[in-house]
Amino acid sequence: MKFTLQVAFGVTLAAATAKCGNPWKAPGPEDYRGPCPMLNTLANHGFLPHDGRNITKQTTVNALGSALNFNASLAELMFEMALVANPEPNATFFTLNQLNVHNVLEHDASLSRSDAFFGNNHVFNETIFNETRAYWTGPVLDANMLANGKVARQVSSKAFNPNYTFTSTIEQFSLGEVIAPIVAFGDVDLAMVNRTLVEYFFENERFPTELGWSTRSTPITLEIIGKLTGIMSNATSLITTAEPVVSTKRRDLHFGGL
Ligand code: HEM
Ligand SMILES: *[C@@H]1O[C@H](CO)[C@@H](O)[C@H](O)[C@H]1NC(C)=O
Ligand SMILES: *[C@@H]1O[C@H](CO)[C@@H](O)[C@H](O)[C@H]1NC(C)=O
Ligand SMILES: *[C@@H]1O[C@H](CO)[C@@H](O)[C@H](O)[C@H]1NC(C)=O
Ligand SMILES: *[C@@H]1O[C@H](CO)[C@@H](O)[C@H](O)[C@H]1NC(C)=O
Ligand SMILES: *[C@@H]1O[C@H](CO)[C@@H](O)[C@H](O)[C@H]1NC(C)=O
Ligand SMILES: *[C@@H]1O[C@H](CO)[C@@H](O)[C@H](O)[C@H]1NC(C)=O
Ligand SMILES: *[C@@H]1O[C@H](CO)[C@@H](O)[C@H](O)[C@H]1NC(C)=O
Ligand SMILES: *[C@@H]1O[C@H](CO)[C@@H](O)[C@H](O)[C@H]1NC(C)=O
Repeated sequence: MKFTLQVAFGVTLAAATAKCGNPWKAPGPEDYRGPCPMLNTLANHGFLPHDGRNITKQTTVNALGSALNFNASLAELMFEMALVANPEPNATFFTLNQLNVHNVLEHDASLSRSDAFFGNNHVFNETIFNETRAYWTGPVLDANMLANGKVARQVSSKAFNPNYTFTSTIEQFSLGEVIAPIVAFGDVDLAMVNRTLVEYFFENERFPTELGWSTRSTPITLEIIGKLTGIMSNATSLITTAEPVVSTKRRDLHFGGL
């Protein structure tokens, strides 16, 4: 009993330390930041090095684990994928500014950053974020609203950026980024998230703790990511599945059926 109490107290203390021990501090002029609002946030809170340098596998596992309750093997996998950002052979770390190189991991049609073609591809850009948010039509974001914002940004880039690039590999990364707000702040079973928390996060690169958010208690696993990615991928389709009742026998008048 004593043992159990001590363990319980220890866990509570550890959780409290993780929360209160990581106050937000704005980046200074020498601190590196990148295109990922979450890694910037983790650095602003000191879960990652505040200077944005020397991000190792262990630092990544600890940061994603303590701040977001990411399963360690999922965090390791994400770290391994990020290492291509460091141009050194056999690198064991990356820095946040290494993520800024266009078309390595950073890509066009971001939710909150401008395309490289138009200028800065890694700082938060309110004009771009407003484009995305126009499709966040309710107080609780569902997969459909998040998908619409993503697709709209792609159409905007495809229309106005003559160098628009978006490969199928980029699409896979992009789907992961679009579900990320649900993963960090939402309900992974319902695939929904409170819009206010998401806007606060993007705009301030800060955890919405003062809005009542706290780290989830059940871990985020690769399986959860896979499920949400599937839901999001489906939600990006512009084709509906149910046949309209009146038109099941209609021939396509515009040669589509030829
Ligand atoms: C090792 C871990 C991670 C790495 C290396 C990483 C890297 C990146 C990079 C390079 C981008 C820019 C893509 C673009 O051009 O739009 C990005 C975007 C993004 N990341 Fe991360 N990320 C990591 C973890 C996370 C986590 C854990 C979350 C939240 C759960 C997250 C949320 C986001 C979001 C929401 C975006 C989209 C930003 C936008 O489109 O404006 N990331 N990330
Ligand atoms: C980088 O971080 C690791 C721990 O993750 C530490 O062992 C190493 O000394 C650090 N290197 C530098 C140059 O700060
Ligand atoms: C992390 O998730 C994997 C499955 O993706 C599981 O095998 C492993 O036990 C989990 N790790 C922890 C620490 O829960
Ligand atoms: C990188 O690792 C590979 C395989 O372990 C090794 O052959 C190569 O010499 C290493 N390169 C450098 C620059 O350390
Ligand atoms: C935001 O992005 C738009 C469109 O790409 C660009 O014209 C504008 O200069 C950017 N704003 C800032 C503050 O960088
Ligand atoms: C333009 O497109 C090419 C090919 O996709 C790419 O390598 C390059 O980085 C792009 N440059 C800009 C500024 O978008
Ligand atoms: C973005 O939208 C907000 C809210 O509608 C508005 O107050 C702000 O002026 C807009 N910013 C830009 C740069 O268009
Ligand atoms: C979203 O979160 C904000 C801040 O905690 C809260 O005021 C608001 O009621 C929440 N919205 C919904 C729909 O739950
Ligand atoms: C995506 O759509 C396909 C085809 O309608 C369906 O079979 C699949 O179950 C859907 N996946 C998810 C995760 O909803």
